[in-house]
Amino acid sequence: MAQKRFGSADSTGRKLDVIEKYLSMYQKALSNTRLQTLYIDGFAGSGEVPLGASEEDLFDEEVKTVLAGSADRALSISPPFLRYVFIDKRKKCIDALKARLKDRPNFDRVETTVEDANAKIRAICENEQWRMQRGVVLLDPFGSQVEWATIEAIAATKALDLWYLFPAGLSVFRQIANDGTVHDSHGDSITRLFGTDVWMTAFFAPSSQGDLFGEPAGNRKNVTPESAARFMIERLRNVFRGGVLELEETIPLGRHAYPSYYLLFAWANPAPKATELAKKLARAAIRATDRKHGRPV
Ligand SMILES: C[S@@+](CC[C@H](N)C(=O)[O-])C[C@H]1O[C@@H](n2cnc3c(N)ncnc32)[C@H](O)[C@@H]1O
Repeated sequence: MAQKRFGSADSTGRKLDVIEKYLSMYQKALSNTRLQTLYIDGFAGSGEVPLGASEEDLFDEEVKTVLAGSADRALSISPPFLRYVFIDKRKKCIDALKARLKDRPNFDRVETTVEDANAKIRAICENEQWRMQRGVVLLDPFGSQVEWATIEAIAATKALDLWYLFPAGLSVFRQIANDGTVHDSHGDSITRLFGTDVWMTAFFAPSSQGDLFGEPAGNRKNVTPESAARFMIERLRNVFRGGVLELEETIPLGRHAYPSYYLLFAWANPAPKATELAKKLARAAIRATDRKHGRPV
């Protein structure tokens, strides 16, 4: 039987360790305040992650090596969040997640929902009261499922911090051919990710090759996962009034020289104290896991 993929074990572990560390420090910091706290996991999964997992691997019996997933880790944080919302569009994932977590002491704080993360998170952002409530959103998709309108809704709360596994390599860099051609459906999904079609000029440069495959004459690909992530950071800066971590401070993730993802961090609350705290905690969470995993080059 073919060996399952374990290559991205360190990436997955690093991502989960950063988030767990951040959530733990966040809760410690906010437990001394009167603020209520909410954790939203948009792509919650089943509660455990088969190493090297793709969407198909999630329920594969042959994948034996697993890590506790983001939802499981978040629910184990002490002190716990007041409320947790775990979202996954696959019922099988939510059923497995509930079965895994139902006997935990804080399970009565959990709401689970089988739904598209975009719709659910936008509804939460619009309908909740944010005056005395703060929280953290994790967007950990496999690909280009996060719509820009969802990012805008999170930013508009001025209350939520966002960890976003942005698929700069997988869903941007790898969807653009070297000759500058982009399949229509990929183009549309890149536009949904960024909430603009400005990338259509930003990610191309003049070429001496001429008019190939019907593309405008003289276009060639001029984007890397890194520059795609930088472009997203600039987009985030337009809407997150708190701030966004610089690319150099974030973590590239994936098995290849060209990272599939960057773990981005943005915070919506513009208050100076909130900004100081968010930056300090995010940097500390990343540094703490650098010590364990080594800083990627
Ligand atoms: C990378 S996995 C999440 C892993 C999880 N964060 C963990 O650490 O255990 C991505 C999950 O997103 C779910 N998913 C895919 N598209 C979705 C969507 N539009 N809305 C909500 N969930 C979605 C998949 O079913 C899958 O469980």
